[in-house]
Amino acid sequence: MCGIVGYIGRKEAAPVLLEGLKKLEYRGYDSAGIAVIANKKTTVIKTKGRIADLEKKFEGKIPKGNLGIGHTRWATHGAPSDANSHPHASNSGKIAVVHNGIIENYLDLKKMLIEKGYKFASETDTEVIAHLAEMYDDGDLVNTLIKVVKDLRGSFAIGLIHEDHPDEFVAVRKDSPLIVGVGEKENFIASDIPAILEYTRRIYLLNDLEIVHLTAEKVEILDLNKKKIEKNIFEVEWDVEAAEKNGYEHFMLKEIHEQPKAVQNTVTPRIVNNDIVFDKFSIDESSLKEISKIFVVACGTAYHAGMVGKYLIENFARIPVEVDIASEFRYRNPIVDKNTLVIIVSQSGETADTLAALRESKKKGAKILAIVNVVGSSIAREADDVIYTWAGPEIAVASTKAYTTQLATMYLLAIKFGLLTKNLPTSRARNLIKELREIPAKIDSLIGSLKEIETMARRHHCEKDIFYLGRGLDYMVALEGSLKLKEISYIHSEAYAAGELKHGTIALIEHGTVVFALATQDELFEKMLSNIKEVKARGATVIAIAKEGNEKIKEVADEVFYIPNITDALTSILTVIPLQMFAYYCAVDKGCDVDKPRNLAKSVTVE
Ligand code: AGP
Repeated sequence: MCGIVGYIGRKEAAPVLLEGLKKLEYRGYDSAGIAVIANKKTTVIKTKGRIADLEKKFEGKIPKGNLGIGHTRWATHGAPSDANSHPHASNSGKIAVVHNGIIENYLDLKKMLIEKGYKFASETDTEVIAHLAEMYDDGDLVNTLIKVVKDLRGSFAIGLIHEDHPDEFVAVRKDSPLIVGVGEKENFIASDIPAILEYTRRIYLLNDLEIVHLTAEKVEILDLNKKKIEKNIFEVEWDVEAAEKNGYEHFMLKEIHEQPKAVQNTVTPRIVNNDIVFDKFSIDESSLKEISKIFVVACGTAYHAGMVGKYLIENFARIPVEVDIASEFRYRNPIVDKNTLVIIVSQSGETADTLAALRESKKKGAKILAIVNVVGSSIAREADDVIYTWAGPEIAVASTKAYTTQLATMYLLAIKFGLLTKNLPTSRARNLIKELREIPAKIDSLIGSLKEIETMARRHHCEKDIFYLGRGLDYMVALEGSLKLKEISYIHSEAYAAGELKHGTIALIEHGTVVFALATQDELFEKMLSNIKEVKARGATVIAIAKEGNEKIKEVADEVFYIPNITDALTSILTVIPLQMFAYYCAVDKGCDVDKPRNLAKSVTVE
């Protein structure tokens, strides 16, 4: 969850590094630094705080040099401080490294290095890399890095420069993302695509333990035996704009408004003659017959999407589905075997717990289907089958368009499985597909109809607690709405299955308590009405979400926001929109850092 950038070429490196790091601040931003080499001299400038604080450290004289590495950090080992910021230098000062990940055996390595006389300046695990490199330095950077890597256990994406080698640098990844940008007489490394998009769209996607050797003219990729690895160039289609704010105040608002397009991009190409067609997908009628159980495993928002997936797959395909939080799943010795399908859901495709759950399932013989947003991410590459959500880059830490495209993918997958198991009548499948096609336009009109949300958020953004209630699919969306509010406005919130209220939580309801009541499920509507009355009787202020045309809800709720009419099974993708917007405007009214909420990182690549 840190951001790395490296550059070698005809430009001054420092400005390229800084611009790249700014595009990666969502990956971590409690400290930052760069190291550049000029005239065989390494200059390291780093600081606790944001990139803006780093620029202040230059005091007007930006370091010169055509080779450099940069880093923006989300602390894991060692609190945010200047000393713990990256890059880390060797004792000679000749070598500088940046690292994203966790070196699990760093204490043993640190002890060995101290015994050999190396002096440490930080509390980080990363610093062992700089001293190991010095220890192994035999004049060949690739050799040196290979020896270092062989000592490391854990996850790492590393960039390394050496002042005796001003025309080259090296990099490697294992379990942490790293890409290579191929330019004209200039080359780059970066943790993620937006960092280098303004310079090149041509990238190499790296696999674990592939060593990258870069000069201004060429990029070589080698295995640990220094054997060359041939790779195809991946052409990035995103425009720089797509990774910028596009005129919106925050990435999150931009990404909320991008949902119609994102859902359309995810759904439309997969509907072919009333059937669902996925690109990299090997599950067919016979292999699905072999599947006795499905697990959906994910974290956070992706987990909430997985809950909707369970509901849909069980309803349409009649296959048992269990949904698990990845950090729990991986430690509870789940009953997984060759007849299990494990669906891994992840926006970043790099979440450590989710990646570990994938590997655990694979070890047990399961078939892995990944639903991810980042092309070429670790989870995508380690799964047997992959369905990409085509949401485009999601920069805001709070997930919105990734969630709705995950839901859209779950709808497609559940229909697909329903058709393959023949448990979903083709007539119903056809109607569902027709409604799926209409969803992007419904999201668009819904967003346009929610002007009132901003005013309502202004009334409630100082609340101490806000509750979310729902039944069935509405409960699953309530969980997501509550998470959105918590993570960006820091308002305490709980989501409850409405039927659960009387078993304890209703004790918390008092006069003026704000309660969102999601009441879009026709067959559960009467039940929801009584739950609304229960909380109203205790003095709650109820804000309801219901389907257009529902007049009855007005008799009990204080405020109602309507979603366009749609079949119950497909409501989630619409119901979440007002909740996303409410959370967004509350955060703005509270002056929170909407795109980079405190304590959070966009991709949690450490456990
Ligand atoms: C969502 O708003 C959060 N930022 C967080 O819960 C996120 O969904 C979770 O960390 C999983 O991330 P992933 O989808 O990249 O695996």
